[in-house]
Amino acid sequence: MTTSPSARIGIIGTGAVFPAYARGLAALPGLTVVRVADLDEERSRTAAAEWGIPAWGSAADLLADPGVDVVVNITTPAAHAALTDAALEAGKHVYVEKPLAVTTRDARRNIATAERTGRVLGGAPDTFLGSAAQTARAAVDAGLIGRPFAATSFVRSSRAQTWHPDPTFLFKPGGGPVLDWGPYHIAALVNLLGPITRVVGATANAELEIPVTAPDRRVERIDVEVATHATSILQFTSGVLATAVYSFDIWDTDLPHIEVYGTEGTLQIPDPNHFDAPVRLKRRTADEWTQLPPVLPLSRPDTGDAGIYRGLGVQDLVGHLAGDAHRASAGLALHVLDVLERLQDATLADGVADIMSSTQRPAPVRGVVPLAG
Ligand SMILES: NC(=O)c1ccc[n+]([C@@H]2O[C@H](COP(=O)([O-])OP(=O)(O)OC[C@H]3O[C@@H](n4cnc5c(N)ncnc54)[C@H](O)[C@@H]3O)[C@@H](O)[C@H]2O)c1
Repeated sequence: MTTSPSARIGIIGTGAVFPAYARGLAALPGLTVVRVADLDEERSRTAAAEWGIPAWGSAADLLADPGVDVVVNITTPAAHAALTDAALEAGKHVYVEKPLAVTTRDARRNIATAERTGRVLGGAPDTFLGSAAQTARAAVDAGLIGRPFAATSFVRSSRAQTWHPDPTFLFKPGGGPVLDWGPYHIAALVNLLGPITRVVGATANAELEIPVTAPDRRVERIDVEVATHATSILQFTSGVLATAVYSFDIWDTDLPHIEVYGTEGTLQIPDPNHFDAPVRLKRRTADEWTQLPPVLPLSRPDTGDAGIYRGLGVQDLVGHLAGDAHRASAGLALHVLDVLERLQDATLADGVADIMSSTQRPAPVRGVVPLAG
């Protein structure tokens, strides 16, 4: 029997996404959350008590703790880069929520710090490690849709103002549909189709002030400082062209999350913010859509709550420390951010932008059962 690599985890940021990490990490073998921290130390104390985590306090305390091997940085985007650098300098390996940083400049500095300190840096999203994305990848690799030539990628409002206690950061630099949701979509597309080489786009805002209606809200209104509707064309190095619409302004749509079009058929991919959901295929000669068998066990067959846990990316980083490939790597997260940074402020007058970074398609997850062609 093989044992899972182990690591002692310290989480910085005990806000809205924290329970998804606490729940997700608790279910992964070998990973133990030993300490939590937050600017609001009382919030970290409450989180520690609720989840049975032995230590809590400030980020500085956490970074000084020799009992923490890996820091999971799930603070708000604007805080990511400085904390990541501090954690790497303190000798910790770091996994960061998306986006890796608010700017590629900061993200590149983080990667340089990781290289200099000899620590490993990984970043969200990790949803492409789940059964849905891995099944879609296996379908493309088996040639089930022939040669992919096009894709679509659509994001509608996550309605955060109706459920997040303080979604201010989602409407400030580092947020917006491009940097908040775009990472799931671009990482999923790069996992399927490889790196992106050129983009062109334009952005808009339907509203410049957002009323917050979440029952436990800490703010009433938010001034919007980022584009909340972005439309773009992405050209992959392979030649594939994708059409992307990332919007907080569209409340409802029947558009699919992601589709990939090939010479022999179409692949329909579920919400890339989730790990497990059916992937559908329609071959050009078929009359009906078929549901592909998952190539991996479902990530959480017991709960059915596909989207409300996190942790596979942390497990991926710890596996890499033990010699496995690094899939949710900083290199992938930087490429994703590079693409999204271009889209965030794109205007038609800018024309086409070349993407200077590149990356490899991440290795398939261990244990994937290939699909027959
Ligand atoms: N909320 C979600 O459903 C969700 C889902 C997936 C990913 N994410 C990502 O997770 C991250 C956090 O999102 P959230 O919704 O939990 O935000 P949040 O505002 O609810 O929580 C962030 C927490 O980080 C703390 N913090 C900020 N700066 C800090 C610093 N310098 N030191 C210590 N603590 C600090 C804040 O006090 C707060 O408690 C973001 O990167 C977001 O993109 C959120």
